[in-house]
Amino acid sequence: MTMNITSENTSTKTVYLKTFGCQMNVLDSDLVQGQLEAMGYRFVDDWEVADVILYNTCSVREHAENKVWSRVGELKSHKEKNPHVILGILGCMAERDGKDMVRKHPQVDLLCGPGELDQVPMLIDNTMKTHIDDRGGVRNAHVALQGNTHRRSATYSAAADNLENLDLSRSFSASNHDGAAYVRITRGCNKFCTYCVVPNTRGREVHRHPDHIFEECKKLVEQGVREITLLGQTVNHYHYDLNSTVTIEGVHQPQVGQILSPNRGTGGASPIFSDGVVSFADLLARIHDDLPNLERLRFITSLPRDFGNDILQVIKDRPRICRYLHLPVQSGSNRVLKLMNRGYTVEEFKDLIDRVREYLPDAELATDIIVGFPTETEEDQKETAELLRYCKFKNSFIFKYSPRPDTVAITRFEDDISNETKKRRNNELLAIQAEISQEIHDGYVGKTVPVFVESVSTKTKKAQGNTADPSVTLGWEASETEVEFTQLAGRTAGDLIVCFDGSSELIGQTVDVEIDKAAPLTLFGKLTEAAKVSE
Ligand code: 5AD
Ligand code: SF4
Repeated sequence: MTMNITSENTSTKTVYLKTFGCQMNVLDSDLVQGQLEAMGYRFVDDWEVADVILYNTCSVREHAENKVWSRVGELKSHKEKNPHVILGILGCMAERDGKDMVRKHPQVDLLCGPGELDQVPMLIDNTMKTHIDDRGGVRNAHVALQGNTHRRSATYSAAADNLENLDLSRSFSASNHDGAAYVRITRGCNKFCTYCVVPNTRGREVHRHPDHIFEECKKLVEQGVREITLLGQTVNHYHYDLNSTVTIEGVHQPQVGQILSPNRGTGGASPIFSDGVVSFADLLARIHDDLPNLERLRFITSLPRDFGNDILQVIKDRPRICRYLHLPVQSGSNRVLKLMNRGYTVEEFKDLIDRVREYLPDAELATDIIVGFPTETEEDQKETAELLRYCKFKNSFIFKYSPRPDTVAITRFEDDISNETKKRRNNELLAIQAEISQEIHDGYVGKTVPVFVESVSTKTKKAQGNTADPSVTLGWEASETEVEFTQLAGRTAGDLIVCFDGSSELIGQTVDVEIDKAAPLTLFGKLTEAAKVSE
């Protein structure tokens, strides 16, 4: 279908936005969508009918990038047939790889790095204008905003930017959430783990003013949000010095994070820099205590360094803070952790796990692991397996090492572990994790747990979408009336996935579910009688 785009009728334009990668990208996409909707753009689920196609991308592993490259390639013929369509690449790939992408794929019109997403509406507008040449024809014109992660990074120059406006621009309405929302507390990362591209693509760590974070949470709760997840690459390093707030045009500016010396705060309080500094523990306590209608407060991700008992105590004392910690350990070998520049040892990590178990005996933990980091031996792998058994994570995200451009690891170390070995090590750890997950899940059978309902489960959706007959994918006989059946998916406060039958009207609510079956990835159960009554 050919679209006729002129800059005069932008208010009727349709946008398709696909998000790759982490929760930070999901939030960025939501905020970009909110800005564009406020300007009259309409979002569609089908890229073939969109005037503007946007991909919000991730560079953490090569595999994630390849998915985008192949989608962009597929759009070549679509753009040839529909030259007025605008194709934009947002996020980390635009920042890291933008020029190369435009050279290889001239069908890309627009690039915007993660530090500039507040500018997306302006960029689309510019592209629309420059798309049309003097004679009314279409030409290839590229607009780009990238390479500015450093401008975002220094305190006073950060004060001159308006990225904070992206978060502040959030539109608050009951219709644009399913009862859950992300709120950013920290942007970027300072830690420079040797394998990681994030400090290059998202820039240095900056922390948002606590009042901005609180006000955002408050408005979300007023609009009916029941679960808030605070986001940052290393949330436990959050700190904001109220004595040195910089305000520009009435807007408190984010503050650059300090580079902490490793292990400060282990076993005791998290690093507190001076009076007037709001720590992560303070922030959690304020949001929990001053928003009594917020049912669940969660946060991701924590760096297993400088995770003080003050944070654990705040969680322990506050029932509505979820007993769930994502603590990416990456390796169980001190030698590898050092090469990764993680700033903690296996012993210190185990100490953190012990402290969590002591303060929060009902907490569930998850981790990330990289297998096949350069020079990793079978002995290192064995140590990682041992650590998995010690920590008893409810799940582990296990990745094969992927050398990333402009990281310390790619310049200093040869990628000397074969893909075959990486795959084997990955499978070995997955098998151990599956055993542990099954064991943890088995412990829930027979219990009744509160579940925050997130969605209709993927299987049911597929069945309805393909055939309107769930029996096709769910493996049971369906009569005409049973087609109404819906399987819901939700999470416990410890982040365990639970599937059960119920009406989709329960999405966004917390219900009691009696667990009757456990698999390594999922718990299955049924609504309690009381929950059914309120359905
Ligand atoms: N190769 C493989 N995995 C990586 N991660 C980050 N960078 C790489 C890389 N170069 C993983 C880490 C991190 C998660 C988000 O992605 O485990 O915690
Ligand atoms: Fe990357 Fe390390 Fe920062 Fe996490 S803490 S985003 S792995 S540099």
